[in-house]
Amino acid sequence: MQTETFTLAPFEAHHLDGALGLSRAAGWAHRREDWEMIWSLSEGRVALVGDRVVGTALMTPFGDTCSAINMIIVDESQRGRGLGRQLTSDVMELAGDRECRLTATSDGLPLYEKLGFVATHQIVRHQGVIGHVDTPENVGWIGREALPAIKALDRAAFGADRDALHNALAKDGPFAVIRNGGNIVAFGATRCFGRGEVVGPVVAENAEQARDLIAFILSGKEGRFVRIDVLEQAGLSPWLESWGLAHEGGVVAMARGATGEAQTPEVRTFGLASQALG
Ligand SMILES: CC(C)(COP(=O)(O)OP(=O)(O)OC[C@H]1O[C@@H](n2cnc3c(N)ncnc32)[C@H](O)[C@@H]1OP(=O)(O)O)[C@@H](O)C(=O)NCCC(=O)NCCS
Repeated sequence: MQTETFTLAPFEAHHLDGALGLSRAAGWAHRREDWEMIWSLSEGRVALVGDRVVGTALMTPFGDTCSAINMIIVDESQRGRGLGRQLTSDVMELAGDRECRLTATSDGLPLYEKLGFVATHQIVRHQGVIGHVDTPENVGWIGREALPAIKALDRAAFGADRDALHNALAKDGPFAVIRNGGNIVAFGATRCFGRGEVVGPVVAENAEQARDLIAFILSGKEGRFVRIDVLEQAGLSPWLESWGLAHEGGVVAMARGATGEAQTPEVRTFGLASQALG
C-alpha cells in the first residue's frame, strides 16, 4: 500500500477520464458517456494524489427530500486508509437533510453500515444477449410528450422527484407505456449503457405489467447485449432468464435518514434506472 498524501476536491468535468479509469479497474461497465450522464445530474468529490484521481463519490439530488450516493470508488493501491469513508461522508454532507439511498457492493457494505445505512432490499442484475421475445400487444412507444405522466408515476413509485433524470432519459429515446382508458399507468425506459443497452426504470402496477413492458422493449433487441437490475422480490427473474438475461449477482439497496413513509400501493418500481440512480 502506498502512503502518498491525498487531497479532496470538487468533482469537475476534467476529472471524468480519471474516474473512468478507476471504474474500469474496478470491473464496472460504465463508458465515459455513462459517467457524464450521472455526473451531469450530481455533485461530487474526488480524491487526488497530485493531479491523479484516486477516488470518486457523487451525490445525485432528487428534489429536496431524497438523494442517491453513488460512484464510490477508491484506487486499489489506496484502499484501507480512510479515503472511502471520507469521500462518502463528504457527499453525504452535500445531501444536507435529504434521505440518502445507495446500492452496496460487498466491498462497500461494511463502510455504509458504519455510516448508518440500513439494508432495505436486494437488487439482482440480469444481463446477456437477447433471444427471441414475443411482442406484447398491450404496450406501445411514446415520446417526450408523455414526460409529465411518466414523472408522476415515477414519483409515486420512487417516493421522490426524479424529474431531471427523466428529462435526461427522454433524450435517449421513447418510453414503453401501458395505458388504461387513455391514461398511462406503467412505463419502462431504455438507453445505451456499458457493454450494450440497459432497460430501466420500469414502473408498473404489478409484475405482469412489468414483464410486458420489458418483453416489449426486448423484442426489438434480439442479438444485442442488454442489462437490467430488478428488485429480487419483484419475481421477474424466471422471465428474464428465459429471454437470455442470466442472473449475474446482486447488490444490497440501503437507506439512511428515510422518513418511513409507505410507498404508494398503486405503482411500484420493478427495474432500476441503474444501480447508481435507483
Ligand atoms: C468500497 C471502497 C470504496 C472502500 O474504500 P476504502 O478507501 O478502502 O475505505 P476506507 O479505508 O475508508 O474504509 C472504510 C471503513 O470500512 C471498513 N472496511 C472496509 N472493508 C471492510 C471489510 N471487508 N470488512 C469490514 N470492514 C471493512 C474499514 O475498516 C473502515 O472502517 P473505519 O473507518 O471504521 O476504520 C473500496 O473498497 C472500493 O473502491 N471498492 C471497489 C468499488 C466498490 O465496490 N465501491 C462500492 C460501491 S457501492
